[in-house]
Amino acid sequence: MGDQVGDRTTGAAAGGSGEGGATGPGRAANAARTAVVWEALAGLLDRLGGGAPLDIVDAGGGTGGAAVPLAELGHRVTVVEPSPDSLAALERRAAERGVRVRGVQGEAGDLTSLFPEGGTDLVLVHNVLEYVEDPLAALREVAGITRPGGAVSLLVTNAVAGTLHRALAGHLTEARTLLEDDRGRWGPGDPVPRRFTRPGVLELIGAAGLTGERVRGVRVFADLVPGHAWEGDAHAGRHLVELEKAAAEHPELLGIATQLHVTAHRP
Ligand SMILES: C[S@@+](CC[C@H](N)C(=O)[O-])C[C@H]1O[C@@H](n2cnc3c(N)ncnc32)[C@H](O)[C@@H]1O
Repeated sequence: MGDQVGDRTTGAAAGGSGEGGATGPGRAANAARTAVVWEALAGLLDRLGGGAPLDIVDAGGGTGGAAVPLAELGHRVTVVEPSPDSLAALERRAAERGVRVRGVQGEAGDLTSLFPEGGTDLVLVHNVLEYVEDPLAALREVAGITRPGGAVSLLVTNAVAGTLHRALAGHLTEARTLLEDDRGRWGPGDPVPRRFTRPGVLELIGAAGLTGERVRGVRVFADLVPGHAWEGDAHAGRHLVELEKAAAEHPELLGIATQLHVTAHRP
């Protein structure tokens, strides 16, 4: 499973300053898929710490695609991850970038046994609830280690967009199956164990004792616009980043976003 958020500097550069030559077309392409999440994270970091170092746990953080850039910003980041291979890759990535990220082998369901109750400023749960056995139990663990007033950054795969993508690829019966399936799967061969709807994810957040504030659509257009229209063209890539940012909170467009990002808080 690859990194879903990628490189903060890429997202910030291509999405913020408008320069493109330094980042190149490949990086601009990545930025179009990640800029909305990094924009949301930047807002959270500012609100929670105003620039001061925060204690951050990245649950199911994989190889550190988010954790390493956060450590580069000066935060104390711990990745909890069941895969030893991913933890080894995380260590290499952090070493290459000259930062320290603590890696702990474990599962989202173990969080309250690994960290003090209510001691973490920000918990990332990015593309992980799809894979855990019990998403509500995992989210309760996440809430348990988040400090009162602290935040959770949740990124999940959108079942509605999954249906659209399946249909556009010509897999019409699978699209129908996904649309009607409780877990948002298109069939037994589907590599994703679970997808989420906006109401479903907000219900989970509430049941876990968190308050959901903002839902953003991530990759509203990036997975629909043909690659030849922008992937080799840094200028077009920047326009796509701006389009993604503008579309992220458009309620009618949430349905077609490949991913849903929710910022939630522990009251
Ligand atoms: C799609 S990857 C996402 C990785 C990273 N969060 C990102 O956004 O790039 C899913 C990750 O969840 C991890 N994972 C699977 N089951 C888990 C569990 N029960 N608790 C925590 N992480 C889990 C996998 O090992 C993998 O690293």
